[in-house]
Amino acid sequence: MPHFDSALELVLTALSEMREGSGRLPRASRASLQLLQQPRRDDLSPHAVTKSDRLAGIASRVAICTKCPHLARSRRQTVFGVGNPDADVMFIGEAPGADEDARGEPFVGRAGQLLTRIIETMGLSRAGVYIANVLKCRPDTPGAAAGNRPPTLTEMQTCLPYLAEQIEIVQPKVLVALGATAVEGLLGTGGMMRDLRGRWHSYNETPLMITYHPSYLLRNQAPSEKRKVWEDMLLVLERIERPITEKQRNYFL
Ligand code: URA
Ligand code: URA
Repeated sequence: MPHFDSALELVLTALSEMREGSGRLPRASRASLQLLQQPRRDDLSPHAVTKSDRLAGIASRVAICTKCPHLARSRRQTVFGVGNPDADVMFIGEAPGADEDARGEPFVGRAGQLLTRIIETMGLSRAGVYIANVLKCRPDTPGAAAGNRPPTLTEMQTCLPYLAEQIEIVQPKVLVALGATAVEGLLGTGGMMRDLRGRWHSYNETPLMITYHPSYLLRNQAPSEKRKVWEDMLLVLERIERPITEKQRNYFL
């Protein structure tokens, strides 16, 4: 019953917050009530529940999440994650940008295209790995017409339980945190990227590689920086015991 219990807990918390916040009785639409029924149905036949079902259950909770009211108001949609529920490698970014908010899929903008190229150069594919962000909503930029802002620590702490569940379900062999903000969100601690990257850390016993965010590579086109990311990805390929060709060894992104 763990999914039903957590869904129930979320509903009760949300209802009591609404009651305290507005003094009005909470109302729920027929569609929301139907979403709430899903985890219960899964739990009635636990053996038939696949990783995809479990991920879909979390995705439906995320889709209606209002824990950060300002983000729930400003987002076009939540951006849950994509890829293979049985992936060996899971990439973790910081938060959706404008393109991701519009498409509902992580890493589909310019940084995403570079990430996709890195994944393919590794001999993997977007469909074969799993990709998610610490934050499921695009950080709002009140008063600004465009641009992005990094998520706050509070926003990331609020959202992290969803990512933690995704990791627990997918159980990748390796996690890759992209950039300083993703590291801060995931580990709760910061540090200099140049000290953190290129070596193994861990998140709840899962090996964690830290590397630069693809948008950093877009800002800083120095071949030396790209080569560092590629060396970090070679470490990932070794860890998941993928054969590495000579061409891959010598590659510069
Ligand atoms: N940057 C991120 O960290 N995540 C995305 O999904 C897109 C850009
Ligand atoms: N600094 C960051 O914040 N992120 C990177 O990826 C690299 C440097």
